[in-house]
Amino acid sequence: MKVGCVKEIKNNEFRVGMTPDNVKSYVAAGHEVYIEKGAGTGSGFQDAEYEAVGAKMIDTAKEVWDTSEMLIKVKEPLPAEYPLFHEGLILYTYLHLAADKPQTDALLNAKVKGVAYETLYDPKQGGLPLLAPMSQIAGRLSVQEGAKYLEKTYGGEGVLLSGVPGTPKAKVVILGGGNVGTNACKIAVGMGADVTIMDISLPRLAYLDDIFGARIQTLVSNDANIENAVKDADVVIGSVLIPGKAAPKIFKKKYLKEMKPGAVFVDVAVDQGGCGETTKVTYHDDPVYIEDGIVHYCVGNMPGAVPRTSTIALTNATLSYGLQIANKGLEKACAENEVIYSAINTYDGKLTCKNVADSFKGYEYTDIHTLV
Ligand SMILES: NC(=O)c1ccc[n+]([C@@H]2O[C@H](COP(=O)([O-])OP(=O)(O)OC[C@H]3O[C@@H](n4cnc5c(N)ncnc54)[C@H](O)[C@@H]3O)[C@@H](O)[C@H]2O)c1
Repeated sequence: MKVGCVKEIKNNEFRVGMTPDNVKSYVAAGHEVYIEKGAGTGSGFQDAEYEAVGAKMIDTAKEVWDTSEMLIKVKEPLPAEYPLFHEGLILYTYLHLAADKPQTDALLNAKVKGVAYETLYDPKQGGLPLLAPMSQIAGRLSVQEGAKYLEKTYGGEGVLLSGVPGTPKAKVVILGGGNVGTNACKIAVGMGADVTIMDISLPRLAYLDDIFGARIQTLVSNDANIENAVKDADVVIGSVLIPGKAAPKIFKKKYLKEMKPGAVFVDVAVDQGGCGETTKVTYHDDPVYIEDGIVHYCVGNMPGAVPRTSTIALTNATLSYGLQIANKGLEKACAENEVIYSAINTYDGKLTCKNVADSFKGYEYTDIHTLV
């Protein structure tokens, strides 16, 4: 198969869909690989490294799109890329269609086979294996960012997360103990903070209690417990998710005035609308704003801050499914591995992801099993 990879064009996005090691695997499997020149530079992968393992380096993104039967990316295509879609193209990337009607229409009109990382559900790999590495990174980064914005020069209260002997440790409150929350917890505990983690799921709290033991406080997530915990928190991390739905607004505006001025709220759930009533999307080039004395950090693509780690973590997860699709063709890959069906969001002009179809009025859902 002709497999391509282009440079990401989203603002401040430096990840890339294929590493040189990935190219080596595709070439070894007999595929031709086309990489846009400079595609990997933001993640520290130079053109010469791709060339050395057999990639053909291409001057323009258009040539790569036109040549490819399967295109591997990181972020959803932007409007400037829609005219490059062509019928039958397998597009393997994050799509996030439920929040993006124009892109959905463009994929359907061009009859692109849209294979979305975020919906690939593999129970053996623990749920959503192509989303998990980004949640791990965002969770770990959330504590790092919280610690940074506690510094006085950024408007923070001027507290060192770990404290030093003779001073109090900072208090970190984590709302949501899933993938993001658990990774945040790991780093906050490691940095010596005083950590409380809340979830609505009692089995999840039991799991967290088992792995972190007496080093953390687990609490059931409800309005009273959240209000009480955030009052003396230094960092609050928002990491709740109800799959397919907008995040519940559990971090209320009324809490801000009761909190310590200069405390930091990191809303990782911002990509699902945010779990704070005062959350507004921010970007890496201007990541924080202050409301009622509380520093808000609400960047929707946090892993983009560490593109080298993020690219390696993402492609570690995407490679095996990508190779199955390239080696067998999408249809045979589905027939031999049922989980790949769950990633197909658009196929031959039909919308094949139920959650996406339910997000838009007047869009019909077609079960992918009736097409492939
Ligand atoms: N900003 C970014 O760059 C970035 C990166 C990765 C993930 N995310 C987002 O972070 C969020 C969390 O992702 P995840 O992978 O940890 O999801 P997850 O499904 O692993 O965990 C979510 C947890 O939230 C809990 N929850 C649901 N409602 C709750 C409530 N009212 N109170 C407390 N807990 C509640 C669930 O029980 C679950 O344990 C998602 O919105 C995801 O898209 C953002």
